Amino acid sequence: MQRVTTIADARSACSQLAGTIAFVPTMGFLHDGHLALMREGLRRADHLVVSVFVNPTQFGPGEDLEDYPRDLKGDAKKCRNLGCDVFFAPRDEPVYADQHSTRVIVDDLDRSLCGQSRPDHFCGVTTIVTKLFNIISPDIAVFGQKDLQQLVIIERMVRDLNFPIEIIGVPIVREKDGLAMSSRNRYLDEAQRRQATSLSRSLVAAHRAHSEDPALPCGRLVDVVRTRLSELDEARIDYVECVHPQTLVPYEEDAPIGPDGAVMAMAVYFGSARLIDNLRIDRPLPDGPLRSLK
Ligand code: PAJ
Repeated sequence: MQRVTTIADARSACSQLAGTIAFVPTMGFLHDGHLALMREGLRRADHLVVSVFVNPTQFGPGEDLEDYPRDLKGDAKKCRNLGCDVFFAPRDEPVYADQHSTRVIVDDLDRSLCGQSRPDHFCGVTTIVTKLFNIISPDIAVFGQKDLQQLVIIERMVRDLNFPIEIIGVPIVREKDGLAMSSRNRYLDEAQRRQATSLSRSLVAAHRAHSEDPALPCGRLVDVVRTRLSELDEARIDYVECVHPQTLVPYEEDAPIGPDGAVMAMAVYFGSARLIDNLRIDRPLPDGPLRSLK
């Protein structure tokens, strides 16, 4: 595995790889969710490139940019063990040049869900991902369905701007008790960690309510989730929405799920930690921990 820290070295290392390249962009502190993306990349391409960069432009004022957990040494080791070819963790030079003034905006899709409380977040994401795509020139890029809105926005951006890159979405990887893996889970204290299992449990409860009565209006499904979350004294709901899986537009409260299906999506604060999770409501539960949750 080549470790590179400058844009020029990353470009040169990637251009020397013969065959197809899968790229996994990350902010590091890698866990099994990230590793699932990397394995999927290696299954689909000859080479794997991973980037680790805590991108300042996607953090809002007062968010956790300074505290974001970092472990570059551990990350590099995990990537090497997995068979990564190029590990790009920019250092020693600014990733954003002086007077950087170009931004990539995917209109509309960035306004709902997380976009409401993080108004500039997705612009930061699409801008850094564009820069990374231009440095690495991958054939495919792998993203997690945990950040569903991010995945949908990147798919739209790649289509609209004609990037010659195939975007792959990988299902959410969860802890045994159902909590979606996240670098931010390390912010949780013991009580919060215990209560955080209610995120996925409440999604499963909504899934069950829908399968028992598919005509149930979406507002009622959202209520199932909200009721469960409101029992938690450590949690503060940012949003709970039942949305169309491609447009991310929320369904009307009194309408049942449409023929294209629906995703129940949420963001919940535990102290200053903001956790997100989502579940496709109209499809069988995915294999894994959710199947054994009550
Ligand atoms: P980060 O939060 O490090 O996530 C990197 C990738 O891992 C994202 O595609 C995310 O959806 C995926 N991921 C995280 N937890 C996962 C889980 N439990 N199961 C499956 N996939 C999971 O997302 C970012 O970084 C940044 O916004 C980035 C795209 C790197 C741009 O800065």
